[in-house]
Amino acid sequence: MLFITFEGPEGAGKTTVLKMIKEQLKQDGFTVVITREPGGSDISEQIRQVILNKENTLMDPWTEVLLYIAARRQHLVEKVIPNKDSNKIIISDRFSDSTLAYQGYARSLDIDKINTIQKLIFENYQPDLTILFDIKPEIGLKRILLRKNETLNRLDKETIEFHQKVYDGYQKIAINNPNRIHIVNANLSEKKVFNSVYELIMNLIEEKKV
Ligand code: TMP
Repeated sequence: MLFITFEGPEGAGKTTVLKMIKEQLKQDGFTVVITREPGGSDISEQIRQVILNKENTLMDPWTEVLLYIAARRQHLVEKVIPNKDSNKIIISDRFSDSTLAYQGYARSLDIDKINTIQKLIFENYQPDLTILFDIKPEIGLKRILLRKNETLNRLDKETIEFHQKVYDGYQKIAINNPNRIHIVNANLSEKKVFNSVYELIMNLIEEKKV
């Protein structure tokens, strides 16, 4: 199994590129499983409803952390770990770096404490590769506002200062994990972003001999 995660601020185009990558890898003959966080399993999708519900304005920041981690635990146990010995490529739209960027850096919670909890629950479980979609918050937010039919969730509705902190947080996380995290410029055309992401994934496939 290869476990790959896509990370980045809102409106970075992760989900669109994920669909394109899935199609390409399938055409190449690989077995690909696409999943997302919070979500990816029935129970985790139910937790997602609670977390993102914009009526839940009273949610305590640590409750938020614990809900994301609960959703992640369930997702990991149901969707990722059972495939450990298979030759599948599992790609998750977000994973634990999101908790560090959004709850740790943007909500200014204690990063060491979040790391300690995640270590306890996930025993250092790390993706083989993480692709960070790099887009400035003002551009990303403009993109989601322009998308018709998109209802903003509780996190989308945070201030631009919050999203700037998410952005800065991701940059720090990337600096701290240079081997795992690769940054792609998400300002470029979809095709160019796709090409960069595809190249990174093919390099990993080559390296791990999948
Ligand atoms: P999505 O819109 O990319 O599906 O993600 C849902 C929102 O949840 C998005 O605003 C990012 C946020 N999020 C966190 O704040 N912490 C996390 O751990 C995860 C996985 C997502």
